[in-house]
Amino acid sequence: MARTFGRTAFHFPSLDTTMRRAAELARDGSPEGTIVTADSQSAGRGRLGRNWISEPGLGLYLSLVLRPDCQADAAPVLTLIAGLGVKETLERAAGVRCDLRWPNDILVGEKKCCGILVEMETEQQRVAHVIVGIGINLNHLAFPPELTEIATSLRIETGREWSREDLLDPLMDSLESCYELHRMRGNDPILDAFHQESSFAIGRRVVVEGLPADAAGPLRGVTAGLDSRGMLLLRTADGTVAPILAGSVRADPCTM
Ligand code: BTN
Repeated sequence: MARTFGRTAFHFPSLDTTMRRAAELARDGSPEGTIVTADSQSAGRGRLGRNWISEPGLGLYLSLVLRPDCQADAAPVLTLIAGLGVKETLERAAGVRCDLRWPNDILVGEKKCCGILVEMETEQQRVAHVIVGIGINLNHLAFPPELTEIATSLRIETGREWSREDLLDPLMDSLESCYELHRMRGNDPILDAFHQESSFAIGRRVVVEGLPADAAGPLRGVTAGLDSRGMLLLRTADGTVAPILAGSVRADPCTM
């Protein structure tokens, strides 16, 4: 079947954020698979209200429009699909071995090489559209001191420069085939793939920050797999197992 992801494509030398432009296009009726890319973003957005620094030449900045036929509460698994698609792309096209940190950070070694932001609009409990934002670190040779220990780029990992064009076609292929797998067979193969591809899914000691109830401090525990919706299960010291609905997961430095 001919690929539809990326068939409708808009590129801008600079934007505030590809997320806003893609959402406008989705509201105006752009088809599923529409992508927006930019050379740079002046207000790139990350998860949990963070910024995503988006300088020209250093990264791939892309937003993809999806129109899944599902209820709003079925959408979290879409974030896993995006992570699996990017991981497959970086492994096949760039030859770097990647890990997935729930819900969808792509790590090379222990350092983040790609972040994914998923935003959704709903109409009467059903998903109207989803925007999947993908930021891949391509050509950084170094990062600011506060990121040196936690971020990496394809250039650092492979010793060569990368362009958006090197990755765009394989990325569209991988994302569409993961999305199609989910459309045909539901959550199970996606959850199975995530369990297989992520070292964070089961048995990792982690810290979870940025939770709504963070006043009490970050939550610590051992990961216990994903539930049927794709939420990460965490076993805490008192033995209870609870799903993590949001927040930022990292390996627990106290116990590594
Ligand atoms: C994260 O915090 O890890 C998610 C980062 C997502 C960044 C991408 S870059 C393209 C798209 N446009 C944005 O403003 N954010 C996403």
